Amino acid sequence: MGNPQVKFYYKNVMEEVLGKEHGITKAQFSELATKTEPFITELNNQRKAGKVRYRDLPYQTETVKQVKAIADEVKGCENFVVLGIGGSALGNIALQTALNPYMYNIDDKQRKGPRLFVLDNVDPLQMKSFLDWIDGRLDKTVFNVVSKSGRTAETASQFMTVCEMIEKKLGKNKLKDQVVATTDLKSGTLRKITDTYGFRNLEVPDGVGGRFSVLSPVGLLSAAVCGIDISDLLAGAAEMDKKVSKTVFLENPAAVNAAINWHYYTRGKNISVMMPYSYGLKDLADWYRQLWAESLGKAKDLNGNEVFVGPTPVKALGATDQHSQVQLYREGPNDKLFTLLAVDEFSSDVTIGKAPQVAPELDILSGNKMSKLINCERTGTEYALLFNKRPCLTVLFDKVTPNTIGQFIYLFEATTSIAGMLFNINTYDQPAVELGKDATLALMGSKDYAELAEKIKPFAQMDSNFII
Ligand code: PA5
Repeated sequence: MGNPQVKFYYKNVMEEVLGKEHGITKAQFSELATKTEPFITELNNQRKAGKVRYRDLPYQTETVKQVKAIADEVKGCENFVVLGIGGSALGNIALQTALNPYMYNIDDKQRKGPRLFVLDNVDPLQMKSFLDWIDGRLDKTVFNVVSKSGRTAETASQFMTVCEMIEKKLGKNKLKDQVVATTDLKSGTLRKITDTYGFRNLEVPDGVGGRFSVLSPVGLLSAAVCGIDISDLLAGAAEMDKKVSKTVFLENPAAVNAAINWHYYTRGKNISVMMPYSYGLKDLADWYRQLWAESLGKAKDLNGNEVFVGPTPVKALGATDQHSQVQLYREGPNDKLFTLLAVDEFSSDVTIGKAPQVAPELDILSGNKMSKLINCERTGTEYALLFNKRPCLTVLFDKVTPNTIGQFIYLFEATTSIAGMLFNINTYDQPAVELGKDATLALMGSKDYAELAEKIKPFAQMDSNFII
């Protein structure tokens, strides 16, 4: 048997399953093929012209050597802490949850590397609790500050706090041992700091936006430090690269996925629910939320027309959210496309214990594998959704391995690129993120944003007439 594969299954969006009103007819599917196919070639050409740099990440042999060298140097530490946010954190979290055991941080026996913490917020309680815990362990802790710019308020604040702590506790000259920076090669605030202090460092590649950067040193270092086979991860991405470069619509899972998503969006199903039936895959759905939302939520199209497009990505978890969301998913508005993530073979399993004698009605569960139960829950829920004419896609992992996670990441990145072309928008910018960032700096007293601070004033305080 070859490598475990990631497979894309789309029958349950077709008319033959859902009927004419909610299903895709053969004629519509063939129109989708005609519309989408030229974009595959266009994307391949853009890539050749160096305009889609994330597509080359699976082949960065030199970079992988650098990542592994630094990982080897630091992996003897007890705690590895990523300071980053958004695209500089979500991929790291997703890889860790998918590829390391649930109790990784708690159980030494289940760990192949240091504990991993990814601090992607500036919540004072969270930070205080963490700092209190790490305080006595600083000499056994390495901090990986990840920021292309170095000016991101959240990451910069965490970083400054941690550096001050290290300086006070261990002395200024220890900073170099405790910090690894991942940042722009040439410019930016963190590059300046890195060069000044002589931190070990890795590059955030040019032209790769944060949400497309998980397969660069941004996501690779923490993965390698925690024992994840990053070469296999990239090999999986390279394998998927072959599939998503295929110019025939029907052979290209990214093209078919993007086309189906676009089809439903333009017909009022503008919510896209990703529902993994595996705890390990849950943070991939979080990673996907950012990828989909920041890439496709745009006010203007490429011709400058106001369009205000963008499917709303929603994360759910099977079986947990069957007991929270499925009532709405089945009987609420039929405005959603579901993407279920399924695992065929779980890498370990549990046999369900025997039923108490007084409860023979539970015998049906007893002695079965839990993997069988969760997969029956998935099939059962999918059947129930289809019964109510809700379209469902499935991404099936033969097995969850670094290789299949690499395949999945690359599949959804390429899907996003093609979906962006169908929406005729700029997939790679995020202009709407900036105003909130600038407003924060204005409120924090930055002189550069004094004018903006004035504009914010009426909104900065609650109007007592409206407080109940
Ligand atoms: O996708 C993006 O571009 C963002 O989520 C960024 O990754 C995030 O804002 C962090 O930016 P930086 O790496 O400059 O700190």
